[in-house]
Amino acid sequence: MKVKLIDQSQTANLYEQVADRIWALIREGTLQPGDRLPSVRRLHEQLSVSISTVLEAYRLLEDRGLISVRPQSGYYVKQTLLSTPEEPDQSKPPKKASSVNNSLAFQVIRHVQDADIVNLAGALPSMEMLPLDTLNRLMGQALRNHPIISHSYDVPPGCKSLRHEVARRLMDAGCSVNMDEIVTTNGTFEAVYLSLKAATKPGDTVAIESPTYYGLLEALEILHLKALELPTHPREGISLLHLENALQKKQIAACALVSNFSNPLGSCMSDAKKKELVQLMTRYDTPLIEDDIYGDLYFEGTRPKALKAFDSEGIVLYCASYSKTLSPGLRVGWAVAGRYQAKVEQLKWVINQTTAIAPQLTIAAFLANGGYDRHLRHLRRAYQSQMALMTQAICEHFPPETRVTRPNGGHVLWVELPHPFDSLLFYRQAFEQKVSVAPGVMFSPSGSYGNCFRLNCGLLWSERIEQAMKQLGHLTQLQTSALKLAES
Ligand SMILES: Cc1ncc(COP(=O)(O)O)c(C=O)c1O
Repeated sequence: MKVKLIDQSQTANLYEQVADRIWALIREGTLQPGDRLPSVRRLHEQLSVSISTVLEAYRLLEDRGLISVRPQSGYYVKQTLLSTPEEPDQSKPPKKASSVNNSLAFQVIRHVQDADIVNLAGALPSMEMLPLDTLNRLMGQALRNHPIISHSYDVPPGCKSLRHEVARRLMDAGCSVNMDEIVTTNGTFEAVYLSLKAATKPGDTVAIESPTYYGLLEALEILHLKALELPTHPREGISLLHLENALQKKQIAACALVSNFSNPLGSCMSDAKKKELVQLMTRYDTPLIEDDIYGDLYFEGTRPKALKAFDSEGIVLYCASYSKTLSPGLRVGWAVAGRYQAKVEQLKWVINQTTAIAPQLTIAAFLANGGYDRHLRHLRRAYQSQMALMTQAICEHFPPETRVTRPNGGHVLWVELPHPFDSLLFYRQAFEQKVSVAPGVMFSPSGSYGNCFRLNCGLLWSERIEQAMKQLGHLTQLQTSALKLAES
């Protein structure tokens, strides 16, 4: 077996690159469960990397539960690593726009804080994985250094030092944005809400991915907007063919989507497709609302570009936050709203006046010198490991016909069972056993995906989660067997 040479100029650590190559070989099936991996010395020679780099890469794969070491013998692909499950196909939502009523989402999500529930429903990280000590220290410093400003009113566009840091970091996403083009918000949700409100009027229809993030549906609902669900591929994202068709027929006033590692499918469009999408929306002079909350959480290579990177006409309203990487509770997000900037700033002022100052100063200080890149490296590694372990648990415990997405970033998995599996019933049964999942219908205004559910991989892997996955597997097996029996 030949492993391709490593590109030493990449930003990921060398050992992570080596681990990714081996993982790719396992995923493609070149390396099968039970196969012996190349010896440490052989890989060191083949890849021209140090012995300690290979050892570190093997340790990482061991942590991810993908390989095991046999004393005196070497490293092996884990036997329990069953065949990689199939991925769901491109979705086929109804062709008509729907009005939105998503009260179920709030019912499901309100329980994510319950300590006695294993929360696989909300897309949340384990708090132990966030740099809370540093953030708390920086918050104290911010309050001490700015004892009056921190308690004052502010006006949009918001805290200068934060906008400066955000503009600097947006370069990694391919965007050259001036800090004056940024308005700070209470998280991505508010940025998306303000962008939708600025770019549409009640009664308009917005094109969305299908399935889509339920929070977007909630925003559409309160703004009295309709949703046109478009077919979406679990890797490549929204169908541009269907989007163009909707634009041609003047069916939509805007399109809103998650550009990198979408929620719940985990799709990430190629740069070429992103460019084509922005060109298409520009040609039809239609605003494109981009939610890039997961962009920093890529598993391989470099940070994927934002759609905003391809926008020369100001039609992209870019929204993001640090809720998934630093602190969901500080509520620090922002929008770069292009042509709609003045409107977004005015709406922000009218609806919410300002974003609290101390959290903005805290995040700005962390970005300036808190080791954000180092922290991200740990976080990405943890999410990737957790996702691999979760996928493995599905292979082991769920029916063989289960399909699962294979995202290259973020921290959610989308699981599909054959019709007529009822994920709402499954959700209720799991909840009785103190495990929560997000049933598929939450992600569709037309109530599609009753046979699917989303799993959060943001929590540190533990025996409790392993046990929860066994329980979920048991419930899916029971329902699937009952359905088969009823059919026969
Ligand atoms: C795609 C997406 N957008 C927005 C949000 C909400 O972000 P925030 O907490 O920054 O408002 C989430 C949270 O799960 C999300 O998954």
